[in-house]
Amino acid sequence: MEWKRKDLIGLEDLKKEEIEIILDVANSFKDVSKRSVKKVPALRGKTVVNLFFEPSTRTRTSFELAAKRLSADVLSFDVSSSSVAKGETMVDTAKNIEAMKVDCFIIRHFVSGAPLIISQNVSASVINAGDGCHEHPTQALLDLFTVRERFGKIKGLRISIIGDILHSRVARSNIWGFKKLGAEVIVCGPPPLIPKEIEKTGVKITFDIDFAIENSDIIYLLRLQRERQKENFLPSLKEYSFLYGIDRERYEKIKEKAFIMHPGPMNRGIEIKSEVAEEERTLILEQVTNGIAIRMAVLYLTIGRKI
Ligand code: CP
Repeated sequence: MEWKRKDLIGLEDLKKEEIEIILDVANSFKDVSKRSVKKVPALRGKTVVNLFFEPSTRTRTSFELAAKRLSADVLSFDVSSSSVAKGETMVDTAKNIEAMKVDCFIIRHFVSGAPLIISQNVSASVINAGDGCHEHPTQALLDLFTVRERFGKIKGLRISIIGDILHSRVARSNIWGFKKLGAEVIVCGPPPLIPKEIEKTGVKITFDIDFAIENSDIIYLLRLQRERQKENFLPSLKEYSFLYGIDRERYEKIKEKAFIMHPGPMNRGIEIKSEVAEEERTLILEQVTNGIAIRMAVLYLTIGRKI
């Protein structure tokens, strides 16, 4: 199978084989970041624009470094000081930047569906860097890559995603990705933060955090998305931390060959105790490292070859 897409909007749209192509291409790019000269000419002459309508540390930096390591020119567009502040629409902004002959937009937006709308209005490639509560495809791809690298496979593993499933685009993309590659996915968290319809994606629901921790290969912790919560879902953060946070006692109960993952940013002391975040069986910074190879692969596949 060949990669034929102009855009990457979400993992829900992708076939298993397309996900595997991205992981394999990422594998071939991983070594570039280990060299003293961290650059290959694959995207020389191409222009990539970071268009972030929401804050980001990891995704924005990672896309910028990935594009630069492929020799593309990169523009990180500052939305807050742009004409968006004067009322210019998101689509007009993208069309005006496209008129300057760019090849790819990396879009993060607080509205679910915003990257899809832009992709329908420009000829350049559009890569979703996280939209509302919808999807964060490159986060899930780097998570799949990290798990595949550690275990040598994904099929047959059990992944428990713990926390605020309701507001998490990371959870949604990971559910699609891990299910398509044959893993069992369990979601766990406070009942108001677990949407009932999530079962339609083939995941199992448990409210028993200790079952999830003791019986999973990957314990994937989520941040409470307080910026997206429109009402009070929890009595207190202290209670959440007590009921669903990973402290040393819970960490000691994970399976011998299990790992803890987190997409970042972490709320230390809430979903994960600070000392656990530094433990040997956490993959948090490894995930970040692998993000570069994944984003190099996605950029290369979408704009590096003739479609
Ligand atoms: N994981 C993630 O999306 O982090 P940022 O918000 O810092 O990009």
